[in-house]
Amino acid sequence: MTAPELPKSLIPTLPGPSYTDPAIFALEQERIFEQMWFCAVRASDLDKPGSFRTVQVGRESVLVTRARDDSVKAYLNICRHRGARLCTEESGEVKRAFQCPYHAWTYGLDGKLVAAPNLTGMPDVDRTTYGLVPVHVREWLGYAWVCLADEPPSFETDVIGAATERLGTPEAIGRYQTESLAVGRRIRYEVRANWKLIIENFMECYHCATIHPELTEVLPEFAGGYAAQYYVGHGAEFAGDAEGFTVDGSPGVDRIPTVSEDQDRRYYAITVKPQVFINLVPDHVIVHRMYPLAADHTVVECDWLFLKEVVDAGRDLSRSVELFHRVNVQDFDACERCQPAMDSRAYRAGGVLVPSEHHIGAFHTWVTDRLRG
Ligand code: FES
Ligand code: FE
Repeated sequence: MTAPELPKSLIPTLPGPSYTDPAIFALEQERIFEQMWFCAVRASDLDKPGSFRTVQVGRESVLVTRARDDSVKAYLNICRHRGARLCTEESGEVKRAFQCPYHAWTYGLDGKLVAAPNLTGMPDVDRTTYGLVPVHVREWLGYAWVCLADEPPSFETDVIGAATERLGTPEAIGRYQTESLAVGRRIRYEVRANWKLIIENFMECYHCATIHPELTEVLPEFAGGYAAQYYVGHGAEFAGDAEGFTVDGSPGVDRIPTVSEDQDRRYYAITVKPQVFINLVPDHVIVHRMYPLAADHTVVECDWLFLKEVVDAGRDLSRSVELFHRVNVQDFDACERCQPAMDSRAYRAGGVLVPSEHHIGAFHTWVTDRLRG
């Protein structure tokens, strides 16, 4: 592995208020989360027509459901009559239609207004015009990605291209068959920290030696502090004595059969801006989705995905899950330790990045440019 050319000095970070100011957070919602593709739900969570989930995307609640024709649809979760929130549950299932709890306007799974009390006989109520407002949706890696922009950016470039670029070749990610894996475990983390602290932490490896003893045991090169994900195509090699990507180095479960020899015994990490992290190891894939809810509050939903037959057979996944669950807890604790300090006068002008973390500087430039519009 050849180290990239590194800057010779420390690099300034964003100033503290970027992580605490509600006005900056509102701008991020408007110019980042409401403009870009946002990884919303695992498509298999919508296991039949009428299954739904509601998710917060920027300032909007989005209702994602499966229609009769089996396609995934997304709508703004707002009744067109007087604006009541249509579904108040985070997930559930309706038989045939969504009924507003206020005056009972009813919408089909295709979003059309299908019934409204006392509306019969009222002429000219266009059932499409007063249908739910659709949201762009695409499926990739087994997730439904939504975009609130009127004209979404290219999914091929911004999502597929950005993710596959990290692994060097477009085929590399496909070998993990992420779309057909099953959710072996899901953990939801309530993190009292700004979403950017979580991304920056995920992008860096400078902290690995200090806070991730179990991870550096399995991936010894992480103890050196270089963020392996920023060497294109590079996967961190497992320790010689590690039999699997597990909390104690014990063997994992069945390897995904299409994973190539050169991907075996290696760990790859990808960030898809603005809110997705993907980790790939030979027998499972870990996908984190962040839902930024306030300047100092982010929900992170993490899925551990394994071969369907492994999950169906009830195999013991606990040692595989425990490794990255500990990493998550260690990382989110670190982010929560930084968050209150972002308001301190000590951090008014921000902090610094060491040269090996220069790619986080590039992330800061990206955020700043987006907010400039
Ligand atoms: Fe939904 Fe009236 S606000 S039916
Ligand atoms: Fe970490």
